[in-house]
Amino acid sequence: MSKKLHIKTFGCQMNVYDSQRMTDVLGPLGYETVDEPNDADMVILNTCHIREKATEKVFSDLGRLKKHKTKRAAQGKSTIIAVAGCVAQAAGKEITRRAPYVDMVFGPQTYHRLPEMVARATRAGGGVLDLEFPAEAKFDHLPAPRSEGETSAFISVQEGCDKFCTYCVVPYTRGAEFSRPVESILDDVKTLASEGVREINLLGQNVNAFHGTSAQGGTLGLGDLIREVATVNGIERIRYITSHPADMDDSLITAHGEVPQLMPFLHLPIQSGADPILRAMNRGHSAQEYRETIARLKEVQPNLALSSDFIIGFPGETDKDFENTMALIQEMKFIQAYSFKFSPRPGTPAVTMENQVEEKVKSERLTLLQDLLGQIQVEFNNACVGKTFPVLLDREGRDEGQLVGRSPYMQPVHVTAPTSLKGEIIDLKITDSFTNSLSGVQLNPDKTANLTVGASA
Ligand code: 5AD
Ligand code: SF4
Repeated sequence: MSKKLHIKTFGCQMNVYDSQRMTDVLGPLGYETVDEPNDADMVILNTCHIREKATEKVFSDLGRLKKHKTKRAAQGKSTIIAVAGCVAQAAGKEITRRAPYVDMVFGPQTYHRLPEMVARATRAGGGVLDLEFPAEAKFDHLPAPRSEGETSAFISVQEGCDKFCTYCVVPYTRGAEFSRPVESILDDVKTLASEGVREINLLGQNVNAFHGTSAQGGTLGLGDLIREVATVNGIERIRYITSHPADMDDSLITAHGEVPQLMPFLHLPIQSGADPILRAMNRGHSAQEYRETIARLKEVQPNLALSSDFIIGFPGETDKDFENTMALIQEMKFIQAYSFKFSPRPGTPAVTMENQVEEKVKSERLTLLQDLLGQIQVEFNNACVGKTFPVLLDREGRDEGQLVGRSPYMQPVHVTAPTSLKGEIIDLKITDSFTNSLSGVQLNPDKTANLTVGASA
């Protein structure tokens, strides 16, 4: 679905170059450049301040564009009007005051954020960039929650993202952050619990931005949603994924200490351990703030283990930045992680950033990082030997008489046990560790067998 973009360029060669850059970053958002403003969905005046009366000229152009916008509005079409360049820089406030119908005013320092600004302006006008259906319908395509005989189920509670990390397409492709109403989520949880589900995974692109409306009025955050889910009979384990460090609020942090069903394993992507890179990524927090969040979580849940995502070779990443990421991994001891080489996604601001990192350097750094993560994972698995973990035995193993389950830390655990224990959470003493899994033995096989036959509640 292509949209029409008209850019009127005033002044110097620099502005001509900038207008071309704007065309480039907006192309992937569906904008095609047209020579005339007639019927354009977006008009950008890329202004020049060098001559006298430049500002007045911009205002007379804006007067014409106002008519254009009004005429299109009468036809049910929205129009984005933007003022860029040096007049925007010098007289931004005056423009917003005298021409309130202008949607975006931005100076030459912020062109890389143009896709974000367009997405925000489109949303403010009630639209979604490329998904033109109402927010509720987003869940129509998701299959109705079903347990299918499984004991662990996923429930989507939130979609979309308002964070605009500079490398990420999600805010454009999935649109604005949207949370499902609490009651409807709890209905799903109850249905699943009645079908034998013991573990609930609350899902969302930015799940801890959750703010679902509550039947009692107002909204609940993720911490309170977890507290509600924990009251449903039969739910013995709760997890959530994927969360953002800047959205770890007090209520969610304290839930880790208060809700026994909330597993002590948290996927909290940091992407990089270097502040200049975190800033360039627009992550909204520093490495130190991440450390402080983890310290607070560990205060209420000392057994917490962490998992993360990393992007290696983000534009501008120096050797020193990479070393800081490695040091942070050592310090945090992430027991599991997804790591990616930075991949420039058309339309995202990071594509046009300077100092792109060579593929070879990205690959070398990624190998070092994955080696370190692998080493920490093995150390953690080894340290589990001798401990006792409650394991949700959710499937049959490859060998006869074997069941496989998940530890609280998501490690697969193999055990020789009767098939009747499938679907149960059983205490297992860990006897062996491998790169990606553990094996264990039942602590009190007789007692467990009795429980499962008769007296289980
Ligand atoms: N390049 C590399 N990795 C990316 N991710 C998202 N966008 C990009 C990109 N352009 C990674 C982030 C995110 C995970 C889901 O995918 O690490 O957390
Ligand atoms: Fe949102 Fe996550 Fe993408 Fe950042 S990386 S924009 S938080 S979905």
